[in-house]
Amino acid sequence: MATIPTDRSPDSTVAFLRAGYRFIGERCERYGSDIFQTRLLLEPTICLRGRPAAELFYDADRFVREGAMPVRGQRTLTGRGGVQGLDGAAHHHRKAMFMSLMTPTAVRQLGQLFADEWRARIPAWELAGPVTLHTEVASMLTEAVCAWAGVPLAAGEVDRRTEHLQAMINSAVSVGPRHWRGRVGRLRGERWAGDLVERVRAGTLPAPEGGALRVVAEHRDGQGRPLPRRVAAVELLNVLRPTVAVAGFVVFAALALHDHPAWRQRVRDDDDATEQFVQEVRRYYPFFPVAAARVRRSFDWQGYHFPQGRRVLLDLYGTDHHPALWPEPEQFRPERFAGWRGDPFTLVPQGGGGHLGGHRCAGEWVAIELLKRAVTLLTGALRYDVPPQDLAIDLRRMPALPASGFVVTAVRRIG
Ligand code: HEM
Repeated sequence: MATIPTDRSPDSTVAFLRAGYRFIGERCERYGSDIFQTRLLLEPTICLRGRPAAELFYDADRFVREGAMPVRGQRTLTGRGGVQGLDGAAHHHRKAMFMSLMTPTAVRQLGQLFADEWRARIPAWELAGPVTLHTEVASMLTEAVCAWAGVPLAAGEVDRRTEHLQAMINSAVSVGPRHWRGRVGRLRGERWAGDLVERVRAGTLPAPEGGALRVVAEHRDGQGRPLPRRVAAVELLNVLRPTVAVAGFVVFAALALHDHPAWRQRVRDDDDATEQFVQEVRRYYPFFPVAAARVRRSFDWQGYHFPQGRRVLLDLYGTDHHPALWPEPEQFRPERFAGWRGDPFTLVPQGGGGHLGGHRCAGEWVAIELLKRAVTLLTGALRYDVPPQDLAIDLRRMPALPASGFVVTAVRRIG
């Protein structure tokens, strides 16, 4: 049996936080191997990247998710009892609930709500001074996804809800105040979502059929029982929170249009070009660094031993930047997706494998739709200036974002 290359450091948690998205990739290059072992949060952890690794990682017979997510992440990003930590039949049943929300018509409706909200805000931006795109898009997405999900928002409530949802997103891999803001955001968010679910169940809040609020409130588990209030709240937030997180991708798309202005014209004229552009935004820019699982039962793979219970991380960012999969991976080149037939294990910004049978992101089509709408609006509905600002992306900060949040000025409506 071959020995997995192993980090010598007694614990690499601090190094992970320092290196951020590049932690696994840098070590893979150092060891000349797409697999190595290290200790994170005092626990031995196998790190993997690349296509064969992704295929292995998404084999549900080999890995489980229960207990894979560190408790800190559950207290902020994901909550407890949600679909992310389920396995087998329970996962399948819960995941089907999410996927039932993702019909092509429903996804288009969310895209339309977002675009309508965007167009409605342009007049105010025309009169305003500098507009920070990330802030605006996050709040537009809160409005759009709440309307889509059947969640009522009182006037003046949008900023508070957006703040809580963003606090959960920003605390994903963090320590100190950012982590604590995430915990507060989660507590308040779960209380809010739990109240909504209870009111729908009590018949005091009408919720449209097929919308996420109603679907979650009425969902029954495999034994016919409704979800406990806290779990239902977690699942409703599992729709609202990541939709607001798409604001990060929208800002990256705006940055890409700024850095590669030739693509402005191409995406305006051609749907295929928009598709390629959006896929390259998802591949190129850093978003979700890793996915975590545990070995279900001991097995051997490529001559390496994976002991039962061992935590395993798949490097999503590193797989999207793997030089064997993506020629010149550090170049932003949408044309690489021309004629791309799709591969569930190479482009993995939102996880890999299948949507229904595995843990691949339930909202992938939503993210793609919203990104396409944003690119169309940024190139066809408004003109703007991009004043000097700090657009650097710090790969140590997870999730990453251009430092300025992408500020635009002199917004003018077109079309
Ligand atoms: C910014 C865009 C998004 C990114 C980068 C993203 C990324 C991810 C990733 C990496 C996973 C975990 C994959 C794994 O564990 O193997 C995931 C899971 C998930 N995502 Fe997303 N996501 C995004 C948008 C969305 C949206 C818009 C929704 C819902 C409307 C959503 C709902 C979910 C759910 C429910 C899961 C859990 C799936 C499961 O465990 O079976 N995501 N996402």
